[in-house]
Amino acid sequence: MKAIILSGGKGTRLRPITHTGAKQLVPVANKPILFYCVENIVQAGIKEVGIIISPETGGEIQDVVGDGSRWGISIKYIVQDIPGGLAHAIKTAEDFLKDSSFVMYLGDNLIGTRIDGFVKDFNAKSPEALILLKEVDNPKQFGVADVTEEGKVKQLIEKPEVPPSNLALVGIYIFSPRIHEAISRIKPSERGELEITDAIQELINMDCRVESFVLDMWWLDTGKKDDLLTANGTVLDEWLKTDIQGEVDDESSVFGRVAVGKGAIIKNSTIRGPVIIGDNSVVDNSYIGPYTSVGEGVKIVNSSVEHSVIMNGSELLDLERLEESLIGCRVKIHENKTKHKALRLLLGDDSVVEV
Ligand code: G1P
Repeated sequence: MKAIILSGGKGTRLRPITHTGAKQLVPVANKPILFYCVENIVQAGIKEVGIIISPETGGEIQDVVGDGSRWGISIKYIVQDIPGGLAHAIKTAEDFLKDSSFVMYLGDNLIGTRIDGFVKDFNAKSPEALILLKEVDNPKQFGVADVTEEGKVKQLIEKPEVPPSNLALVGIYIFSPRIHEAISRIKPSERGELEITDAIQELINMDCRVESFVLDMWWLDTGKKDDLLTANGTVLDEWLKTDIQGEVDDESSVFGRVAVGKGAIIKNSTIRGPVIIGDNSVVDNSYIGPYTSVGEGVKIVNSSVEHSVIMNGSELLDLERLEESLIGCRVKIHENKTKHKALRLLLGDDSVVEV
């Protein structure tokens, strides 16, 4: 079994963060989302992984992820020249996949479970596809499945106007090589893409067996700010372990699960977990509240921060209360202490500020 991880796309819904970087590298609990995908694949015993990249952000992904040796696996990079859809990405990876079965993992999807059970199930039952489904409130935004009570998939539709159910297709799939034949038979959708949903529907039309499994654990698509903050909070809540490597002075109090990285300094502050603070960050005379991830080399002074993601190298000075915020790298936010308290901003394209 091989795996491909799809890591292209423009990340339009996470701008301006994604103006300067790939959405799959945005950190959740101080780790790029893409790393959770790789680790889940590694745990399932898969050793040959292809990452599909776009010409725009592929270089950065290669630099950060590397050749896989840190996980004891091999990672190959495959460039998808155009954003032609998920089935087009499989076509692009045909030389890598050859006649192997494979997991396809969308690099911005996070799930609260391992995938090794699904891989075992696939190997034992040998269907042509195994798909994961999850009940959602907004099925129109996803691929949607109509299934029988026994879990047999009757029909799949991409972003339907009238959804036949509230079961969305999760961005993790397992395929036999027959998917290539199905892909060769489909046409681009209205949005001009070769849809994986249509290819799986084609497998059903070809009388192939498509198994489904409905997830009862969480599934998060990290494409937007609030989803990303939810993902950050969920991962901190479920997986963070207390690990204090930096210095916490006697005037500071730490409650709950808190991780503080090497070289980080906590002075005269209160940290209420779950919170992670990266290497070499300084928190001085401040309060850091639950569900906050502070990256590396961040400075937080005389401020209060909660339920937020603050990325590497940023500075927060004299902020009375910052909440539910996603702050990119090397951002500086200072209180204006002059008399008339004017806002003075230097913001990039697509920034969002609530004052
Ligand atoms: C893609 C798939 C869709 C699936 C979703 C999961 O949507 O086309 O069927 O439900 O991923 O994240 P997209 O992100 O391209 O809108």
